[in-house]
Amino acid sequence: MNKIKKGGKISNTASNGKNHGKKVIIDTDCGIDDAIAIMMAVRNGLVVRGITTVSGNTEVEQVTVNVLRVLHFLERSDIPVFKGAHKPFVKTSVSSAKIHGSDGLGDVGLPEAPFEAQITSAPIAMYEIAKENPGITLITLGPLTNVAMALNLHPELESLIGRIISMGGALYKGNVTRFAEFNFYFDPEAAQFVFDSKVPLTIVPWDPILQNIILEKDLLKMAKNAGRIAEMIVALEQTPLAFMEEFYGVRASVFPDPVAVAYAIDEKVAKSKIIGNMKMELNNNTMRGASVLTEGERMEIVTEVDPEVFKKIFVQTF
Ligand code: RIB
Ligand code: CA
Repeated sequence: MNKIKKGGKISNTASNGKNHGKKVIIDTDCGIDDAIAIMMAVRNGLVVRGITTVSGNTEVEQVTVNVLRVLHFLERSDIPVFKGAHKPFVKTSVSSAKIHGSDGLGDVGLPEAPFEAQITSAPIAMYEIAKENPGITLITLGPLTNVAMALNLHPELESLIGRIISMGGALYKGNVTRFAEFNFYFDPEAAQFVFDSKVPLTIVPWDPILQNIILEKDLLKMAKNAGRIAEMIVALEQTPLAFMEEFYGVRASVFPDPVAVAYAIDEKVAKSKIIGNMKMELNNNTMRGASVLTEGERMEIVTEVDPEVFKKIFVQTF
């Protein structure tokens, strides 16, 4: 249970989604799409045993506040939150404030939670939760700093985690540089450390995410009269929609982290995937942070997303 501040209350609202039953840990740098992904996980009945936070879209202190706010909004203060890494292993300077707003949640004014995160740090929490739930799925929505630290501190995690589903990397076109996607660019050494581990791994890279663009008019249609969760998702999306309009002239949005969670809910959201391998470019050059396809069969890599399967899960989230 989260430690409650004075006057807070613990509510154990059951998840509203179908009883999916799959046990997961979510590791996040809680920006806007992360928040929507957490809503999707909870509302579609994934059994979220814990949420760990990491710096990425914003600093880990703010990320942790954001996760608590989202859980308070969902009335799921029973889900424990654990703060993690402040910095990547090797300094990388990049900011995503333009997409996620100054507080990381589009400055929509989501109310503060009346409860706090746990004392245990994220890497230790990952180990303790996996020990209690062998075979658990770890869904990563941000840089892999916590995951690499956890695996480094507790190598036995390699046999306790059933699968890591990781939103990250880019096959042909990045979103931070021409070559690199944000999560893996932010801490490429951590990503390589996870690739070098033996944990079964599914990568949801940036490229197929772009096949799942939702126009604002379609989002508004789906959300019309659909209730407070849908309203909040539309409010959260205003900053990314404004970013897309400014840079690409269209009010549309992509949902990278929700696609990774949707894959954990229903693998059919991946229209196609390959068994392959990636290595991270770690040298200090223009390719740094690129995830380069290479020989080997280390991981599953989603190569196509099915927008219809995604939309079904997305609407179920409302
Ligand atoms: O490249 C997309 C990823 O970077 C998403 O996880 C988004 O939240 C940002 O962290
Ligand atoms: Ca994220």
